[in-house]
Amino acid sequence: MEKISSVLENADPFKTWWPTIAAVIVGIIVTIRSLMGGQRCPNDNQIKDRIAIITGSNSGVGYQIAKALAARGGRVILACRNMEAADKAVATIKRKLNNANSNEDESNSKHKLFVEARYLDLRSLDSVCRFARKILAEFERVDILINNAGVIFDKTGFKTVDGFEQHLQINYLSHFLLTHLLIPHLQKSFMGRVINVSSHAHASAKMDIDDPLHLGTYASKFHARDAFAHSKLAVLLSTRSLAKALKGTSVTVNCCTPGLVRGTSHLKNSPLMSAFCIKVMTFPWMWLFMKNPFEGAQCAVYLATDQQLKDISGEYFKCDGALPLKFDKRLQYYSILRTWSEYGTS
Ligand SMILES: NC(=O)c1ccc[n+]([C@@H]2O[C@H](COP(=O)([O-])OP(=O)(O)OC[C@H]3O[C@@H](n4cnc5c(N)ncnc54)[C@H](OP(=O)(O)O)[C@@H]3O)[C@@H](O)[C@H]2O)c1
Repeated sequence: MEKISSVLENADPFKTWWPTIAAVIVGIIVTIRSLMGGQRCPNDNQIKDRIAIITGSNSGVGYQIAKALAARGGRVILACRNMEAADKAVATIKRKLNNANSNEDESNSKHKLFVEARYLDLRSLDSVCRFARKILAEFERVDILINNAGVIFDKTGFKTVDGFEQHLQINYLSHFLLTHLLIPHLQKSFMGRVINVSSHAHASAKMDIDDPLHLGTYASKFHARDAFAHSKLAVLLSTRSLAKALKGTSVTVNCCTPGLVRGTSHLKNSPLMSAFCIKVMTFPWMWLFMKNPFEGAQCAVYLATDQQLKDISGEYFKCDGALPLKFDKRLQYYSILRTWSEYGTS
């Protein structure tokens, strides 16, 4: 014991560089993590009794968005295809928020949580119509619609029941139809908001001028990564187009990217990430450079709740503000996308 205390007394941290090196490494890691984590939603606005629908919210980013909006008092509907997972997500959100509320003041804990799961399979336009019909019949209005569900690296070789390439239908066409069907209810809200979740990957999209929706040979011709990029560019372009069409109404339409998010099912079909050793090897890098699902949800929560955005429409957001569309020359495709809009609303 005496020996140990004399060693500690005589220890001179400046005799070696190791403590400094360790401190610098920790500092770099903390800085990278806080930069890569993006911004938190800058407000804590309550959205009491506002009705919010979030597609694909049984897991990942969508789940975190649903939880955040329910915590702010919203009436939240999880629109999901896997009802078992969706019911579990609802139960978890209620349990967590009830626990949090019971630690707060009495008035808060008296507020009854409204969180529900509804069936919606975006692979089928019929399912979208059924879902929309039920919402229109059961709710007096819709205040927030977050088109979050998405797939990547799904098989491009076969088509949905409606005859479309899967990425295109799930990520774009079905959301587009859903939005159009819900517009009458969104217009009943004093501040209706549509938020489309896109991706940085839109920048690498290939668009065929003769077949912009790739209804022809696209499915068999291209890699799933390209199909994803194409669908997310379509989301972006239709955001602008719909915002133009809704100008002068109480409804805004914006688009956001969650950034690169780890810990979700997004890459579950990725050929690379299915190898266990790759998962293990990339884990530290993903932890360092990617967001967690909570961080990935912040931008959509900001778009759904911030008062200052009430007149902003047709923009593409990262976590720190509106971004101009990089591919202005592609805006020529608006007219073609509007043709789909006519199809969707007929
Ligand atoms: N993670 C990233 O790095 C990243 C980057 C850029 C953009 N994004 C976008 O962010 C959004 C959320 O992604 P995430 O990372 O949270 O991925 P995720 O965990 O895979 O969540 C996607 C959600 O979409 C649902 N979904 C898939 N197909 C559906 C269908 N046919 N009908 C209804 N719901 C369906 C999934 O339900 P199941 O559980 O039933 O499959 C799941 O709940 C997606 O639009 C994605 O493209 C993510």
